[in-house]
Amino acid sequence: MKALVLTGGKGTRLRPLTYTIPKHLIPVANKPILFYVIDQIREAGITDIGVIVSPDTASYIKEALGDGSAREVKTTYILQSEPLGLAHAVKTGQEFLGDSPFVLFLGDNLIQGGIKDFVAQFNSDGLILLKEVPDPRAFGVCELDTSGRVERLVEKPKVPRTNLAVVGAYIFTPDVHKVIAHLKPSGRGEYEITDAIQGLVDAGKDVRSYILKGWWLDTGKKEDLLEANRVILDESACWKVEGTVDSECSVVGRVEVGKGTSIENSVVRGPVSIAGGCRISNSFIGPFTSIGTGAVIEDSSVEFSVLLDNCRILKVPRLADCVIGRNSQVAGGRSLGGVALLLGDHSKVEL
Ligand code: TTP
Repeated sequence: MKALVLTGGKGTRLRPLTYTIPKHLIPVANKPILFYVIDQIREAGITDIGVIVSPDTASYIKEALGDGSAREVKTTYILQSEPLGLAHAVKTGQEFLGDSPFVLFLGDNLIQGGIKDFVAQFNSDGLILLKEVPDPRAFGVCELDTSGRVERLVEKPKVPRTNLAVVGAYIFTPDVHKVIAHLKPSGRGEYEITDAIQGLVDAGKDVRSYILKGWWLDTGKKEDLLEANRVILDESACWKVEGTVDSECSVVGRVEVGKGTSIENSVVRGPVSIAGGCRISNSFIGPFTSIGTGAVIEDSSVEFSVLLDNCRILKVPRLADCVIGRNSQVAGGRSLGGVALLLGDHSKVEL
């Protein structure tokens, strides 16, 4: 079996961050989202992975993942010149996929426990991953017959007939290529994977479902990204302090501190992940915070946030619920009423 991982798309909901970094490479708990996806595919026994890239994401993704050997997989990059939908991405990858069955995995989706059991259960013409959600109106929604066979899929229905949302991992046989070849674009102008699955069902193919019990996070929005960071730190952070912590500090809970990081006169309350080469002084680092390499944090308080590499946070009394891009500086110390900002397009500031 092969895998096709999608890292194209526009990432509009995470702008301005996605102008300079694909959302798939944004780290949660200091590991890029895409690496969780690749690791889960490998853990399911699949090592031959096609990676769909866009003209905007290609160079970043290739640089991060290379030939895949660091993650013990083999990568083949496939350029999708326009983001015309998930089914279009599969069509773009058809030559790589050949006559192999394959897992299609969205490169910004995180699935608790991975896809090992899901892949092991595959013995039909298609298998889709579903998750019961309280409000399915924003998702592809699935209707099943009593044996768990897929009967109908509706994209973002106003009145959903079930609470089963389609999650970002699917398994197909090469039959899907024949259906995709005849697809028409949807109302929003995309070749939809839900239409391809419905096409398989309408052609009498046996498409089965697997209902995920654990969490599933689509990290396309800031709130979801912070939630992913919270959930992953909560599950996997451990006590591992490789940097230096002076005697004036209080470091409690599950806290990871990378090599070359120094922490002085500060309180760190886990779960927290601090990468290497950071300098933190006279500050409070609160739970569910991930701090990238080379950060400088002075006289500040940060919690429930993701800071990418080389951020400088100086004299900021309280930062919470933030995602801050690389090489950014947030400096406080002024009296309220005067705020001096240099912001890129689409930035959001909450004061
Ligand atoms: P989406 O999150 O639905 O779309 P997007 O990435 O363009 O984001 P936004 O809505 O914020 O603009 O895409 C799901 C995944 O599939 C994501 O990893 C990007 C990828 N993708 C492709 O590779 N090709 C495509 O044509 C599309 C639409 C998405």
